[in-house]
Amino acid sequence: MANVAVIGAQWGDEGKGKVVDWLASRADVVVRFQGGHNAGHTLVVGNETYKLSLLPSGLVREKLGIIGNGVVIDPEALLAEIDKVTAQGLRVSPATLRIAENAALILPFHGALDRAREAARGDQKIGTTGRGIGPAYEDKVARRAIRVADLAEPETLSLKLDELLRHHNTLLASLGAETFDKAVLLAWLLALAPRILPYAEPLWIRLDELRRAGKRILFEGAQAVMLDVDHGTYPYVTSSNTVAATAASGAGMGPGAIGFVLGIAKSYSTRVGSGPFPTELHDATGQLLGDRGNEYGTNTGRRRRCGWFDAVLVRQAVKVAGINGLALTKLDVLDGLSELKVCTGYRIDGALHHHLPAAPRAQEAASPEYEVLEGWKGSTRGARSWGELPAQAIKYVRRIEELVEAPVTLLSTSPERDDTILVRDPFEG
Ligand code: IMP
Repeated sequence: MANVAVIGAQWGDEGKGKVVDWLASRADVVVRFQGGHNAGHTLVVGNETYKLSLLPSGLVREKLGIIGNGVVIDPEALLAEIDKVTAQGLRVSPATLRIAENAALILPFHGALDRAREAARGDQKIGTTGRGIGPAYEDKVARRAIRVADLAEPETLSLKLDELLRHHNTLLASLGAETFDKAVLLAWLLALAPRILPYAEPLWIRLDELRRAGKRILFEGAQAVMLDVDHGTYPYVTSSNTVAATAASGAGMGPGAIGFVLGIAKSYSTRVGSGPFPTELHDATGQLLGDRGNEYGTNTGRRRRCGWFDAVLVRQAVKVAGINGLALTKLDVLDGLSELKVCTGYRIDGALHHHLPAAPRAQEAASPEYEVLEGWKGSTRGARSWGELPAQAIKYVRRIEELVEAPVTLLSTSPERDDTILVRDPFEG
């Protein structure tokens, strides 16, 4: 039996929520290890729809939820989300949710700086969620972040706020944005502290115990490999490492704890925010994919850019993230299209490339080389076995497996949890 890490293999919004929910029902513990409340997992259980940003999805299945040290935590957003899901009937308490005492906090000036910088970038904007993720990670690496455990030490908070405000107020003022007052922030933090601290602990001890007791751990990734700060389409990325290796450092465990790495990929491509997107479609087909895919909703409420499946990028994601198997989602969105295209290489200044280069101008210039596949007439929607799929749909999936050099271990054919074809149980390794 293995633990499982679930990560996005494209630019996010691959339909992780449904897959994570399915896996969470079979796990004992669900661990978030990077990102913050920029993430968004929609889980539909019975008549209730849960939209989680920061809380681990396992809470919906009454599994222990863990927020690891690699996550950046906005304390106010966390408490608001706890209140929201509690009103929907979930039980969230220090018995069901544990938070790493060494996780860094997102503070109000992080969001303000994120938004002020985006405004100053104009056309060059990254399209961030504006929730302060980048500036919070910057403070963590710069060794001035306020961490969860600091909430128990008013003197530490006071000293850190001095340093933080020296830095942030200077930047905010230079961008023409409002600055922050130390006394107000200190009072705010001290008021939040009693509600956050009961969840905090040295998580590595608990995780070590859970692992030794043979509990099934599900590591729930947020965002996706092409948004990874090292391996993604930099600078149009998020500010954390989203690859599976981060699950270990972001939870406080050794790399051997990760187990099976399940990459989630849509059967086509989408992207929210700015940045290179070689297979993007600006025509009626792109519009159609967007309209059909949008039934699932985005976490940020922004419209997705849509395009053909990019096997070059997903193969790259498979390699850099060590993906053992793919969960292919939203196959039904392609139903009825007469032909389908899959990107197998890029032409850049006349030369053929089989990976996306790191240089921004090369990324922008990458023009896709397509393989054209026949579409299928029947419906794949709701299929629960290979026998229910049109032959061409199976061919499409098989061709994707070959091109990305990873097996499809799970196929999702509608937003419903049980509309899934399972080829191999990731927990069996
Ligand atoms: P940030 O994470 O708010 O800094 O945003 C950086 C980039 O990551 C932007 O392009 C966002 O649209 C994108 N992003 C962040 N979180 C998600 C997500 O959960 N799904 C899809 N895109 C995301």
